[in-house]
Amino acid sequence: MTTNPKTDSLTRAIRGRVLHFLRDPQFHEDAYQYWDDGVLIVTNGRIAAAGDYTQLAARIPADAEIVDHRGKLIVPGFIDTHVHYPQTDMIASPSPGLLHWLETYTFPEERRFADPDYARGVAGFFTEELLRNGTTSAVVWSTVHKASAEALFAESEARNLRMVTGKVMMDRNCPEFLRDTAETGARDSADLLSRWHNKGRLAYAITPRFAPTSTEAQLAACGELARAYPDAFIQTHVAENRDEVKWVAELFPDARSYLDVYDRYGLLRPGAMYGHAIYLDQDDRRRLADSGAAVAHCPTSNLFLGSGFYDFHQSDANRLNVTLATDVGGGTSFSMFRTMNAAHKVARMGGYYLTALRMFYLATRAAAEALGWTDRVGSFSVGCEADFIVLDPKATPLIARRSNRSETLEEELFAFAMLGDDRVIDSVYVMGEAAHVPAA
Ligand code: GUN
Ligand code: ZN
Repeated sequence: MTTNPKTDSLTRAIRGRVLHFLRDPQFHEDAYQYWDDGVLIVTNGRIAAAGDYTQLAARIPADAEIVDHRGKLIVPGFIDTHVHYPQTDMIASPSPGLLHWLETYTFPEERRFADPDYARGVAGFFTEELLRNGTTSAVVWSTVHKASAEALFAESEARNLRMVTGKVMMDRNCPEFLRDTAETGARDSADLLSRWHNKGRLAYAITPRFAPTSTEAQLAACGELARAYPDAFIQTHVAENRDEVKWVAELFPDARSYLDVYDRYGLLRPGAMYGHAIYLDQDDRRRLADSGAAVAHCPTSNLFLGSGFYDFHQSDANRLNVTLATDVGGGTSFSMFRTMNAAHKVARMGGYYLTALRMFYLATRAAAEALGWTDRVGSFSVGCEADFIVLDPKATPLIARRSNRSETLEEELFAFAMLGDDRVIDSVYVMGEAAHVPAA
């Protein structure tokens, strides 16, 4: 933001109502910290302290810049754990279901990303749209083209965002124009890994699209990559749709289940992010939990494509590491508030009650835990990178009226979750710097 080297080391104190999570409120009493008159003290882009303003006031240096957000709620930036940037321009495409939607809209659009300039243009818009919605980190899908991942990395780097992406691997059951091979897919992925993984705030995810579009040879190559890069992320789709599950059973008759296909190739481990995970059995859930892999629950997508309802009862019973994701463009919104809204309703349909406190945890700290980032983002722990957002409870006339009636933090957060969208995002900070101020 600034070119003055003096201000780069300046401490900034951001005052407002401060909330963050350290544990899952579903299972822990002392899961969060909240200060009505709170402050974040940020030095060199990192959290130096978070707490009550009067208690911390003495620690704010005399030359600190004070930013006053009193009346507004400051929370860690959202982390979207499964989102397809190449599907930005085909969001809201009408279709009766996943496999038709892939053939008709998704694959033709993804073809365009062979052109690096095209990819760069969409990646730029996409990262801005994330920020406009208060999402400061994401686990992102590129396309099969190496240039598509490069474009997202470059645009994320330009905005200093903590982001993950990977080149899609698929070598069968897809159009010729989007097909790699077990060899080229592995070679391109290894090249991207060596150049982008852990470069500043960027990281790489090994990205087989889903079991139906990879041969056994390609899945084996993914497993080899995973062994060669033990700290690389892994992302894929699993058990999203009944037709897809049936198809996988036909393609992999020896596998015990859809999830087992990935397990056989060593793709279940901490840092692996499994999209959807609707049609799992008890063994699958136990295995997922034991492996340390995580689930990206994508409720707007599951409703839009008629895929099914994520089972929160079973998820909790097995202590799955569940996180929240938009899955744009199968998902219908970039907003994590809209995603919470849908998650709550999906849970209700299964007889489960998802609290707002839990949803804010899922959208922040839970994702950081799943990604091994608890010392980096997702909370205001000392030393974390200061990615945070400021929420305006008066953002719209209706939200203002509802917030006025709120008597508890849960009620206020619930109003954000049910009524909120990009309009609620007052401002966004990336490593302590204002990243986005919406037009009036
Ligand atoms: N399964 C395989 N590819 C995709 C995709 O692009 N979106 C969704 N929602 N599911 C998939
Ligand atoms: Zn997806």
